[in-house]
Amino acid sequence: MNPRRHLLLLRCPFDQASLRLAHFRGKEPERISTAVVQCADCKREYPIEHGVLRLLEPSAVRDAMSAREQELWEKGAGEYDSRVTHGRQTLNAMEIPPTLRALGDVKDKVVLELGCGTGRLSTLIASACREYVAVDFSINELAILSKKLKPDARVSLVQADVTQPISAPRSFDLILSSQVVQALPTRDHRMGMFRWAAEALTDAGRFVFTTYHHGLRNRLFGIAQSARYTHEGIYRYYSTMDEIKREVVPYFDSVQVRPIQVVVPGAERLGIPPVVLSRVAELIPGLNQLGILLLVEARRPVRPPKEGSPSMAVEDGITLLRRRFEGVRDKHRIASQR
Ligand SMILES: C[S@@+](CC[C@H](N)C(=O)[O-])C[C@H]1O[C@@H](n2cnc3c(N)ncnc32)[C@H](O)[C@@H]1O
Repeated sequence: MNPRRHLLLLRCPFDQASLRLAHFRGKEPERISTAVVQCADCKREYPIEHGVLRLLEPSAVRDAMSAREQELWEKGAGEYDSRVTHGRQTLNAMEIPPTLRALGDVKDKVVLELGCGTGRLSTLIASACREYVAVDFSINELAILSKKLKPDARVSLVQADVTQPISAPRSFDLILSSQVVQALPTRDHRMGMFRWAAEALTDAGRFVFTTYHHGLRNRLFGIAQSARYTHEGIYRYYSTMDEIKREVVPYFDSVQVRPIQVVVPGAERLGIPPVVLSRVAELIPGLNQLGILLLVEARRPVRPPKEGSPSMAVEDGITLLRRRFEGVRDKHRIASQR
């Protein structure tokens, strides 16, 4: 686990500088399960323990709200597979195939998963990819996923906050995130993740994610957009189609949003298999507003201009010349006043 070459895909969460193995004597192994990684600039150190690179240490997540969520996800980690991965077969069958179809062919692709959890999707695709980096802030969930992976898998598990970039720019072909956006506590957190995704993707790269939909059912039953689950207290947010699109378009030129996992009331009574009906209903405008999830496909990443880009260099040159000119003029002025 943690193939050493994956360090080239990652960056220090503090200053975005590159990472390298620290205190290593002799030939570095291709796979690392215990080591210390150091930032080339700020020299902060991060441990690799049981094959998981812990980029949340020595810092914490970005704010108190996220820290609270992290704590709740850590507590619930042990129940996730029985409750969701194995406990929701029909809903999973309505959700996972359309998500994987949207992701497309992963062969030969360098893939990043944001919020992998216990690997409900990671385990289905990681072995088919060229390289797979899976990020989550819950160390307990990563530990569960780690046990499901083959020892020689080309997979790295990283403990980090998905709203703060920790990857090298333009280094991933595909980014996947299933049911994580809904768990982020504010619009700022969600947009932080979208911005990171745009920076991490190659120009031809794609970002595919799912998140809860504030659809027809919620409106009919008056279900709140923003709330906490009564059982674990975890935060969850339901987005409308327009809202999620507005949050993604600053970072991607092409954004498509569609409802999936359409649960049609009374389907069983009609004798139609619910998974088949969901697939058909996804295609019917109006009826698809009953979809529980939104599937988002974003292409053509837009990155903010970088310091030192050509136009800024010209501007800097002009400013420098103007300052020099003003300096010479002031010197002459002072000399002539003497
Ligand atoms: C609903 S689970 C989805 C897990 C997995 N993607 C799946 O589809 O089964 C949400 C996941 O997001 C993770 N998560 C929530 N907020 C996060 C954050 N700010 N940074 C990293 N992971 C986060 C949680 O730990 C949890 O594993």
